[in-house]
Amino acid sequence: NSVTVLAPATVANVVCGFDVLGFALGAPYDTMTLRLTSQPGVVIINKDDYNLPTEPRRNVAGAALLALLRAVSEPIGFEVEIAKAIKPGSGIGSSAASAAGAVVGANALLDNRFTQAELVEFATYGEEVASGVRHADNIAPCIYGGVTLIRSTEPLDIIPIPAPPLYVTVVHPQIEVKTSDAREILKKQVPLKDAIRQWGNVGGLIAGLMKGDYALIGRSLEDVIIEPVRSILIPGFAEVKRASQEAGALGGGISGSGPSIFMLSQHETTARQVEAVMQSVYHGLGIDFHTYVSTIN
Ligand code: HSE
Repeated sequence: NSVTVLAPATVANVVCGFDVLGFALGAPYDTMTLRLTSQPGVVIINKDDYNLPTEPRRNVAGAALLALLRAVSEPIGFEVEIAKAIKPGSGIGSSAASAAGAVVGANALLDNRFTQAELVEFATYGEEVASGVRHADNIAPCIYGGVTLIRSTEPLDIIPIPAPPLYVTVVHPQIEVKTSDAREILKKQVPLKDAIRQWGNVGGLIAGLMKGDYALIGRSLEDVIIEPVRSILIPGFAEVKRASQEAGALGGGISGSGPSIFMLSQHETTARQVEAVMQSVYHGLGIDFHTYVSTIN
């Protein structure tokens, strides 16, 4: 009685949609195998060398499963094997993949008794372990797939957004940016003129995705509130963005709270050129990096 789940990387915020937009990537993804046990509680087996905690309360997948088990009346438990391909701290939803994959697998073993929205709710307890905040902008796309809008967190209101084919190029420079630090430095007040520009862009991006209007998607990928503050934490950010757009990318920005940067392209050939541009920027800076080319999935 076991199930294997592939939990994809995700990009939160999508430039203008801080804490409300996110999308799932085709790759990379974590591979998780869950077994139902008659022993109540959770057992975590890490199949990689990231030294992640195995105590369930301190483990992202463990905390998510404990939240799910609180909603189950039978005396059951889960054993989870986690093989992470998404590096912790990369900014492409590594913790969300563990939390979301765990509850999706558990739900399959329980004959899908919970809704996707309930699974998102359980998985946010995992995010809390990782960053102190129960944000769902990585978890929602990880569970629903594609692009999701979190219209409200209290109560949770998740809207899947249809999107045209889009290629995604991601570069993960090997520097550390903690989500908690990247949130701490944000301004708590937003000037009205910036708020107006930002919600114009969020509306434009959603409309562009739903209409399949690539030009509208491109000009809506602008963030006047978060990016100016956070981008100083990421060496090479401005250059990657400028050179990627010169190479034909529609636009892009910081993935989640960084340090990864993502760019969207209409065509795969452009996405590959953008990858070359990113590689040349980080070679030039002498910073180790990984790149990924995938699709919104
Ligand atoms: N929306 C969150 C942030 C995502 O940008 O802080 C963190 O992964």
